Amino acid sequence: MNKLIIKGGVPLSGEVRVSGSKNAVLPILAGTLLADSPVIVRNVPDVHDVSTTMELQVRMGLSLTFGENMSIVIDPATLENTFAPYELVKTMRASILVLGPLLARFGRAEVSLPGGCAIGARPVNIHLGGLEAMGADILVENGYIKARCDRLKGARIVMDQVTVTGTENLMMAASLADGTTVLENAAREPEVVDLADFINAMGGQIEDAGTDTVKIHGVEKLRGCDYTVLPDRIETGTYLVAAAITGGKVLIKHTDPRLLDSVLAKLEEAGATIDSGDNWIELDMVGRKPHSVNIRTAPYPGFPTDMQAQFCALNAIAEGTGSVTETVFENRFMHIQEFMRLGANVHIEGNTAIITGVDGLNGAPVMATDLRASASLILAGLVANGETVVDRIYHIDRGYDHIEEKLASLGAKIQRVPN
Ligand code: UD1
Repeated sequence: MNKLIIKGGVPLSGEVRVSGSKNAVLPILAGTLLADSPVIVRNVPDVHDVSTTMELQVRMGLSLTFGENMSIVIDPATLENTFAPYELVKTMRASILVLGPLLARFGRAEVSLPGGCAIGARPVNIHLGGLEAMGADILVENGYIKARCDRLKGARIVMDQVTVTGTENLMMAASLADGTTVLENAAREPEVVDLADFINAMGGQIEDAGTDTVKIHGVEKLRGCDYTVLPDRIETGTYLVAAAITGGKVLIKHTDPRLLDSVLAKLEEAGATIDSGDNWIELDMVGRKPHSVNIRTAPYPGFPTDMQAQFCALNAIAEGTGSVTETVFENRFMHIQEFMRLGANVHIEGNTAIITGVDGLNGAPVMATDLRASASLILAGLVANGETVVDRIYHIDRGYDHIEEKLASLGAKIQRVPN
């Protein structure tokens, strides 16, 4: 197991290239199961969740070949089984995304129940209820979801909570169903739109993805295509906060500022100067300290829960007091205890963290507990005095592509060492 050693206090400066979106590529890789011929997926990030998905696909018998420039060619025609085992699903909840495509294309699937995770219970009842409404028989037995169907049938499904992977699973299932499915209260995240664009590139007929009512006209079959995954907006946001927290100036390339409206607005409110073009964002905070900001997480286009921990780090060293309210997950403040080890002044009331900025954080050993919490501890380490050691960084490797190399290229003193 590796850890990261960070010597804080260097204002970051330079350029960094953002990778493809983790949360977009995972459903797209699952969605390749819908096709009847090879699919090329480009701009695939080099992150552990992608390797886990590929391991799952190889175990199902699919053939995968790496191409140039972060591309993968996947041939779904060689599928041998429709089984997703516990040992893979428990390490990555997004494995549940194979359920919809397997059922739609092969009429059967056996997928381990993901179970809880560090940030909350995270049930999959909405995924299962939607598939049942489309005609699937679902039995949950011995920790596994055992699902069967003849051809799924289009249905009108009202989801009682906005769920990103739930929307994606049902969209994939509906794309090969008989008739039209209407998903009400659908998630509007850009990654949902990317998946719909991908399915449409395979010959699907999905309308209005990105709104809360998505219409999916089922088709008889989907064919392979060549698709480029959208840039990672959370990775982008994390590097922007890294620049802001250290009083630096950083140009983020290969990104899309239109995906980050709520995050950019908060960074400007914190005092950063932001400039952007079609595929780049530059943040300048040189010689300044951020002001505290109030945050309330919400489904897109609200402020992303996946950026909440990073803004807690920003508030920890900002001028003034800011409140951060988490409304999406019930237990997403594990980073706060670790910030306190670095000297942060935080008070938690229910689902709100009230953070009063301190003059300086002091380096300490800290432990990563989930993906975005790990990122926030690295950010805190970049600004803390002395040395911060972040342990259990396998969490960060799940979703950030070579983070220490990218930060080092911006001047950060950060090193990966074995335990
Ligand atoms: C996805 C993202 C994750 C992000 C989250 C919210 C991926 C791979 N992961 O996770 O990074 O933090 O969206 O933006 O894209 N819920 C239910 N029943 C269900 C499904 C969800 O009650 O069947 C609840 C969850 O417990 C949670 C809320 O709905 O409280 C939102 O979760 P959801 O949008 O499903 O998160 P994920 O899709 O797992």
